[in-house]
Amino acid sequence: MNKLTYSYSGPLPLGSVVAHYCGAAGLTTYKENPMWRLAGQEDEHQYVLSVYRDGQFIAIFTGAHTNEGRLQIGGQLLRLLRTHRGLPPLGDWGTLVGVRPTKLFHKLWDKLGSAEAAVDCLRQQYEVTEPKIDLLQQVATLQRPYVAPNAKADRMVSVYGGIPFCQTHCTYCSFPYGLIQDYKRVPQFVEAFVKDSQHLQRVIAEYELQLSTLYLGGGTPTSLSDADFETIVSSLAELQGPNVTTNALEFTVEAGRPDSVTPHKLRAMERVGVNRISINPQSMHDFILKAIGRGHTAKAIRDLYRYVRQHTSFQVNMDFIAGLPYQTEGHMIENMDYICQAMPENVTIHTLALKRGSPLYEGVGREAMPEEQAVEAMVAYCKGRLEAAGYVPYYVYRQQYMTSQTENIGYTLPGHVCEYNIRIMEERQSILSVGPGSSSKWMRAPEYRQLQQHMPKDVSVYIDTLDTLLGKRSQLCKQFWEG
Ligand SMILES: C[S@@+](CC[C@H](N)C(=O)[O-])C[C@H]1O[C@@H](n2cnc3c(N)ncnc32)[C@H](O)[C@@H]1O
Ligand code: SF4
Repeated sequence: MNKLTYSYSGPLPLGSVVAHYCGAAGLTTYKENPMWRLAGQEDEHQYVLSVYRDGQFIAIFTGAHTNEGRLQIGGQLLRLLRTHRGLPPLGDWGTLVGVRPTKLFHKLWDKLGSAEAAVDCLRQQYEVTEPKIDLLQQVATLQRPYVAPNAKADRMVSVYGGIPFCQTHCTYCSFPYGLIQDYKRVPQFVEAFVKDSQHLQRVIAEYELQLSTLYLGGGTPTSLSDADFETIVSSLAELQGPNVTTNALEFTVEAGRPDSVTPHKLRAMERVGVNRISINPQSMHDFILKAIGRGHTAKAIRDLYRYVRQHTSFQVNMDFIAGLPYQTEGHMIENMDYICQAMPENVTIHTLALKRGSPLYEGVGREAMPEEQAVEAMVAYCKGRLEAAGYVPYYVYRQQYMTSQTENIGYTLPGHVCEYNIRIMEERQSILSVGPGSSSKWMRAPEYRQLQQHMPKDVSVYIDTLDTLLGKRSQLCKQFWEG
């Protein structure tokens, strides 16, 4: 019997709710011999969920044949699963299990007319606890100027470019692409990416769109050679129009792995108007970095950060993960000692999520993962320490398989928010994307999700079918801006 696992059979809409609530209770799906078996049924009036544990019938839940009915079943299931795990029936997040809690906050704010009314709803309907409500209210209030309904927002877009390569595979990452050194068609990939960007440039001109932010992520964009990286970053920069270097548009590049960043790449970024980069330690301890397959040292992070501060004017973000194998609260204190001395403009604290398809999920280092309580203590410590140093939280999200009652929080020094992170999280502005595995979403108030296009994850399929994909993008743009 595989502990903390479940399987589900039944109608899809109920299945997606079940997946969210099981994830929130710390369960992962497993087809062979799961501990929990969940069987859904529906008729035109109601949904029914039967729950079995270790082959024994435990409970049956029913709800109306509506979204609310499914959520009601989800709430009952969450209470049952948590109780069986020896936990209180609900945790700090109550029955709120979505990955974007502030998105719900803004929706309630629009519908009910004020932040206070949204707070009441979270308290009463979702049973969210006060510390989480305070966090959501603080973040939503800071974000509000970016997301409040705005008639002119239709023609504002952000652009994401995705580079599907890394140099090694981090054990916690379910990143679906290949290692750059193994891929044989990198020149064709670069050519296709540039063609994709140029198509977007024509779209921006044709529909007179205003660019809001640019973001080059992945994967590891800087895993490309100097020359290929320069070609790619320049092709995205072209979208800013002719005044590239004088333009104040926010333009971020993920330079997550210090062993992939060179002075040439940094100069190329400066030349084309990049003004924010992400250097991601995850941990400042070499034995942990080694255990997670990261392939760089803490010294490499320190050296790169110092170099970037001396030679560029980039704003810097740094990502950390709480809950990595072998990590203790003492390690997290040392991570924050470094941050509070370095003071990058942005810091993101993630909680380790077990992602299906990652080596960690398959067992690599899983036995060395710290207990949930220790992880919660690390996250709480980071929050207190960062706030004492002057950082404020500016975006929040949760992950489906997050075992603890924590969340991922992006912190900023006042006045340095990354607008793109707000745009991608709150989903109120269209984001058009370039590169394999990237998604474009066309948004319009009041529903905010109208059309989407997902590029194939397989790099070779992307290269070989690009003309058809761009044709489809042209159609979607026409439908959205002319329809
Ligand atoms: C989309 S990833 C890309 C960042 C970049 N490729 C890197 O690794 O430096 C953004 C961040 O998410 C976090 N992350 C990735 N996988 C995670 C997981 N399984 N659990 C928690 N955080 C994770 C890491 O902190 C990572 O830097
Ligand atoms: S965490 Fe980042 S660097 Fe590591 S494999 Fe995933 S995308 Fe690549």
